[in-house]
Amino acid sequence: MPFYAKTLGDNYAKQVDKELRASHAGETGAVWIYRGALFAECVLKLVNLSGTKSEAQPFIHEHLKTERRHLAVFENEMPLFRGSFILPVWIASGFITGFIPRLCGINCFYYTIYRVEQFVDSHYEEQCKRISALAIPPSNVINRFRQCQADEQHHRDEALLLMTKRPSLLMKLWGAAVEKGSSIAVAIAKVI
Ligand SMILES: [Fe+2]
Ligand SMILES: [Fe+2]
Repeated sequence: MPFYAKTLGDNYAKQVDKELRASHAGETGAVWIYRGALFAECVLKLVNLSGTKSEAQPFIHEHLKTERRHLAVFENEMPLFRGSFILPVWIASGFITGFIPRLCGINCFYYTIYRVEQFVDSHYEEQCKRISALAIPPSNVINRFRQCQADEQHHRDEALLLMTKRPSLLMKLWGAAVEKGSSIAVAIAKVI
């Protein structure tokens, strides 16, 4: 194999590998957002602040099911890639991102999901553009990214529709922090 062909192959594999690692870390975090929210539901129930039945439960369970399916796609249907070395960090970050807003109220929780999914949608969009520009675009990866992206868009719109009040300034600041944090997490996960 000529040297330039090997270099092209190495760069290609590295590019796809880091995109898969970043999104796998993101989908892991997404699963834990909903686990964090479910744990908050239990806490609220224990202190009896949420009444007998929380209206967020079907939303949380449905979204958790989809995020677990996304994670399974990355773990079983994608080309082999190196997972992030710091998955526990993404798990903890996801858990906090679901737990705290759900404790703060249902509107805050839906708004957080809206901001997270807004970020995830544009991240998948950028990834698809980047890997479509490769010499040989991996159609299997692109198609699966697109399928996940369509679900995230649905999650984003659903969360926005369920909001009953406009977000407060504090919620907007929290949303901006979550978005910035997600962007930093993607950059880190691509490397480690
Ligand atoms: Fe997802
Ligand atoms: Fe989602």
